Amino acid sequence: MIELKNVKKNFGDLQVLKGIDITINDGEIYGIIGQSGAGKSTLLRCINGLEDYQSGSITVDGTPVSRDDPKKLRLLQKEMGMIFQNFNLLNRLDVYDNVALPMKFWGMKTRTPEAREKITGLLKLVGLEEKIHARPSELSGGQMQRVAIARALVLDPRVLLCDEATSALDPAITRGILALLQEINEKMGITVIVVTHQMEVVKQICQRVSFMKDGVVLAEGRPEELFVKPIREVKSFLQEESGLLPQQGVNVQLFFTDKSSDPVITMMARELQIDFSICWAKLEDFRSSVYGSLVLNIDEKDKDAVLAYLDKVGVIWEVL
Ligand SMILES: Nc1ncnc2c1ncn2[C@@H]1O[C@H](COP(=O)(O)OP(=O)(O)O)[C@@H](O)[C@H]1O
Ligand SMILES: [Mg+2]
Repeated sequence: MIELKNVKKNFGDLQVLKGIDITINDGEIYGIIGQSGAGKSTLLRCINGLEDYQSGSITVDGTPVSRDDPKKLRLLQKEMGMIFQNFNLLNRLDVYDNVALPMKFWGMKTRTPEAREKITGLLKLVGLEEKIHARPSELSGGQMQRVAIARALVLDPRVLLCDEATSALDPAITRGILALLQEINEKMGITVIVVTHQMEVVKQICQRVSFMKDGVVLAEGRPEELFVKPIREVKSFLQEESGLLPQQGVNVQLFFTDKSSDPVITMMARELQIDFSICWAKLEDFRSSVYGSLVLNIDEKDKDAVLAYLDKVGVIWEVL
């Protein structure tokens, strides 16, 4: 378990983390989303001890992450693999030696049968066995990130930290990388922390997510909770406004979860014998479930009946 309690961090006068409280469970895929400059990378770097913080506490399975004891910190860092947007591979080394690099840092032999088995096994996992002697410059972006993932796993970490790992990749390649991260999480039981500004990433793989803005966590929950019925700041981050709504009548926004996917709208029209227009709607995939929301414009005179009906059938609503 990774626990952050009231973590504060500044660069000079600039306070970048303003009291962060987050708990990440073992085996979870946890997302941290927010605009550029929100403090996400700094937070990740504090978690693996690359950055110091001024106050609060960060612990990994009870062990404090602290730069006061460099030896202890290095052992802790061994438990946390990390991947980045720009892959950070060394072009003078082939794929095998790039993956082996962390072993070299730890003074481990990289040509023993065990090491070979380890590295080829990881390259198989990421689907790059046949590229074992290629140079990074001969690989596509997606392939380079796969090498970086293999490298991040070579010391058998318990946690994988991903900083904008798919931000430089196109959507199809991104889906492949995310599927791989999910596979690693499930097969190896590794906790995955995903820092991103891409909502798609969080939607596809995260079990829980924190939304960060200006060094503060403004919302936390399951992605479907955060994005289907977003708070104002999340809405503006998603640049999602319901657009122009009619001035007349009453605009009611409905939120659907998996459980309320019956044909509520048509049933309501029939049962209440009323007409209305649908002004705006969206449906979204979250891992394996579909969630949606839509805005109805109804007559003022129908308002009470409609809201009572929605309550009766258990649909969450909000008058706009
Ligand atoms: N090493 C640094 N020195 C000074 N300011 C920094 C440093 N690293 C990040 N910052 C500042 O901290 C804020 C948060 O940055 P960062 O954590 O990179 O955000 P994000 O990853 O969400 O884009 C930004 O205002 C950034 O300019
Ligand atoms: Mg960043």
